[in-house]
Amino acid sequence: MTNPPLIKMHGITKRFGKVLANDRANFSLQHGEIHAIVGENGAGKSTLMKILYGLYQPNDGEIYLRDELVRIDSPRIAIKLGIGMVQQHFTLIPALTALKNIVLAKEPHRFKTLLDTATAHRSITALAEQLGFHLDLNAKVESLPIGGQQYAEILKALYHGAEILILDEPTAVLAPQEVTGLFDCLHGLKAEGKSVILITHKLGEVMTVADTITVMRRGKSVASLRRSETDIAELSELMIGKKPFNGLKTQKVPDRSGPPMLHLEDVTLRAKNGRALLDGIDLDVFAGEIVGIAGVEGNGQSELIEVITGLQKSDSGTITLNDASIANRSPAEIRRKRVVHLPADRHRHGISLNDRVDENLILGSHNQPPFCRHGLLRRKAAHQFADDVIEKYEIRAGGVNLPIRTLSGGNQQKVVVARELESDPELIIAAHPTRGLDINAAQFVHQQLIDARNRSKGILLISADLEELLSLSDRVAVIYNGRIGGVLRPSETDETQLGALMLG
Ligand SMILES: Nc1ncnc2c1ncn2[C@@H]1O[C@H](COP(=O)(O)OP(=O)(O)OP(=O)(O)O)[C@@H](O)[C@H]1O
Ligand SMILES: [Mg+2]
Repeated sequence: MTNPPLIKMHGITKRFGKVLANDRANFSLQHGEIHAIVGENGAGKSTLMKILYGLYQPNDGEIYLRDELVRIDSPRIAIKLGIGMVQQHFTLIPALTALKNIVLAKEPHRFKTLLDTATAHRSITALAEQLGFHLDLNAKVESLPIGGQQYAEILKALYHGAEILILDEPTAVLAPQEVTGLFDCLHGLKAEGKSVILITHKLGEVMTVADTITVMRRGKSVASLRRSETDIAELSELMIGKKPFNGLKTQKVPDRSGPPMLHLEDVTLRAKNGRALLDGIDLDVFAGEIVGIAGVEGNGQSELIEVITGLQKSDSGTITLNDASIANRSPAEIRRKRVVHLPADRHRHGISLNDRVDENLILGSHNQPPFCRHGLLRRKAAHQFADDVIEKYEIRAGGVNLPIRTLSGGNQQKVVVARELESDPELIIAAHPTRGLDINAAQFVHQQLIDARNRSKGILLISADLEELLSLSDRVAVIYNGRIGGVLRPSETDETQLGALMLG
């Protein structure tokens, strides 16, 4: 490599109180490459990229753009320098259209006052077409599928002139087809001479799409490798300092002779306009069984979870838990029957961002013993519980008294998973339980789910990750258009067949 790097970050150190998020980290990006950054939850990946995008200032270290020292004090300056970032948690405004979101802060004006929507629409449509994005620019962001929101975020960065695009775990929330679409788009960007930085936990993806890979560990950059010179085993060893443990503990065969734990019969839910969101769902989960739900996002998965957990009332049909009806009971009543829910969107449903880590860990049981006596919160009990759980789940936090928003994305997810699984559940509704987790943490959660099953709990597992579904589930049901299109045994199917059923 004789060319000077496009970006060189040298000796970057970033402290948050006692936490050393980046410890003399180095990173260099070549022009026109796709560069992946991998590492455990809390390794400092997002922090390093937020520094490049001007969201944080480093305590020490320098950044060079084409060999020239730059100071990136704010995202505004980063954008001026041609650096764009799509963050781990989206920043679009849900009530505005995609178009409005994309042009925000750079509105083309006609006569200096009116927003020239037509011009913006034309140039953004051209950009989207060039990249092969299918996106309704006039739709409100809240009504777009996650893949569409992602496209809008990318278009926003490019429209604002990004030559270097940083994507922080863009595939964590995407369906497999959407991932392929995104990678095509990244190759398109590369062909146009743009450079891409991609943070991800999925080493398979890294090996498909990246030219270069930087591995981070505990705030340091420990290696930078060409894809052609490494493999998944080496990368995971560099990431966690040891070989990942593999092989889940032995499986027990569920006993389906008695009545099911969870039973749904002909459950229907209609949208306000009469369209069936759930269209006659029949589904059983037996004690000691993991039932997986496969499907392309938006085919009724979230509605299914909502009617079981009481967040929405079904229009007709039967829902029973151990033979007692739970149809249309309140979420609190259903929770008291020890039905727990690992929500897909942890920022909306899972955590309270400004509350402390320990408070988030007891959310939902904060008004019950041992955390509450005579109506008073027992801080000590909460603290003890938090300490234990943090150790067991290896949650990396600067302290249990810090607001949870200071945790890395994966560590926030671990808090939600730990809280729900430690509450002695009977039935676990797990939506994308390992989204954003590193390989070790994901395997740990998988083992927890299998252990729960072996203790005769029932588990309904909704996931976009077919490998996860096939390796954990006793049976996999495919949901399409609000209907269950078939129930399969993992030993008798594969990802290709599942994929076909998912598309109807
Ligand atoms: N604003 C903040 N305040 C305090 N601590 C922070 C803040 N942002 C990050 N940290 C801490 O810095 C460390 C690195 O976090 P970072 O978000 O960079 O990790 P990451 O590699 O992106 O992890 P993940 O894979 O879980 O997203 C973590 O220990 C985190 O708790
Ligand atoms: Mg992160």
